[in-house]
Amino acid sequence: MKRQAFTVLLCWSVFAAATAAGAAAQTADASPTFSKDVAPLLYRSCVTCHRSGGVAPMPLVTYQDTRPWAKAIKQQVSTRMMPPWGADMSGAPLGAHPPPARLALAVGNEGAGLSTEVRAAAAQLVAIPIAAEVESLNAAVAAGILLHALRA
Ligand code: HEC
Repeated sequence: MKRQAFTVLLCWSVFAAATAAGAAAQTADASPTFSKDVAPLLYRSCVTCHRSGGVAPMPLVTYQDTRPWAKAIKQQVSTRMMPPWGADMSGAPLGAHPPPARLALAVGNEGAGLSTEVRAAAAQLVAIPIAAEVESLNAAVAAGILLHALRA
């Protein structure tokens, strides 16, 4: 595949993710480039986890990192598996948004929750409705409830 065709494919895939994440619409011009069109989307929605030392299995920082993953990115983004949903008390209550058939869920630590970066990258934030006097749930308990409720 030619480099430009790849860039268009990647723009489309990552753009779909960005749209899913509620980001502002952007129109790619006639000759998109990795650095101008793709990298900003990856940096906004993916690089938080997809960088060396990050929680994701591979970095998506440079063109060389990203190119081999073009097909997988298209597949994961179009099925809404990526970017993940995030468990966050400020999120939409469970049931407010239908989950995709397959879902990745980011769960933060009990006290501090998700990092600002992961919260910003999440496609959807979801909260477990709990009584006002309950401060938070143990992370493993929250993950169990969410994974059960969000299963396809
Ligand atoms: C909150 C962290 C996080 C964010 C943000 C994130 N990912 Fe991921 N991603 C992961 C993790 C963790 C896995 C591994 C999941 C697994 O092994 O099941 C993964 C897996 C993937 C895979 C599959 C890799 C494989 O082995 O087939 C692709 C493709 C991917 N991510 C693309 C993206 C793209 C594109 C974005 C941005 C639109 C993104 N991810 C955002 C954490 C993240």
